[in-house]
Amino acid sequence: MIFTVAIDGPAAAGKGTVGRAVAARFGFAHLDTGLLYRAVGALVLKGADPVAAARGLVPEALEQPGLRGPDVAQAASEVAAIPEVRAALLAFQRGFARREGGAVLDGRDIGTVICPGAEVKLFVTASAEARAGRRLAELVEAGHEVSFDSVLADVKARDARDSERAEAPLKPAGDAHLLDTSELDVDQAVAAAVAQVAAAL
Ligand code: C5P
Repeated sequence: MIFTVAIDGPAAAGKGTVGRAVAARFGFAHLDTGLLYRAVGALVLKGADPVAAARGLVPEALEQPGLRGPDVAQAASEVAAIPEVRAALLAFQRGFARREGGAVLDGRDIGTVICPGAEVKLFVTASAEARAGRRLAELVEAGHEVSFDSVLADVKARDARDSERAEAPLKPAGDAHLLDTSELDVDQAVAAAVAQVAAAL
């Protein structure tokens, strides 16, 4: 079976959590596409050219530790504004989306650019404060020393850059289901997403 679930939304809205849970529930493969941009960003921080890094990216690069840190996140958001970087990462994402057995991809432009024909599209959002609170907890858990204010500023800066860029800006696809997780716990957000997928299967 070929079946694609496209999940988009701003940083730390819960896309990854929802995406992983939906994939596990239905036995689909899951790709966190932010990791592609993070892996390129990490190489750029080490001095690589962004376009060359994107063209040469190997799947193993997505498994390296350190991709979740705030410096890599900023670098990812910068390289993600370069059209040639996005173009270099397109074929891999489309191939993943149409693999046999079903796939869940989460990112910023999955429902709009990568998989406009996805069987299910979700746009997961939450207030900037709710998202900063969650990201702070994740970063502290991973051993990073950061403050709520710096995480909130980072979330807002990335929102602005991701929404305002000319190439594949962050916006809901016209046919996406909106899922605001500000007031939902993880189980509620997952249940809402699972219900949308179940209705389309
Ligand atoms: O989702 P995550 O925070 O890991 O993404 C890191 C950065 O990669 C985002 O801020 C965004 O600029 C970029 N990105 C993108 N398109 C995607 C996924 C991520 O532009 N599909």
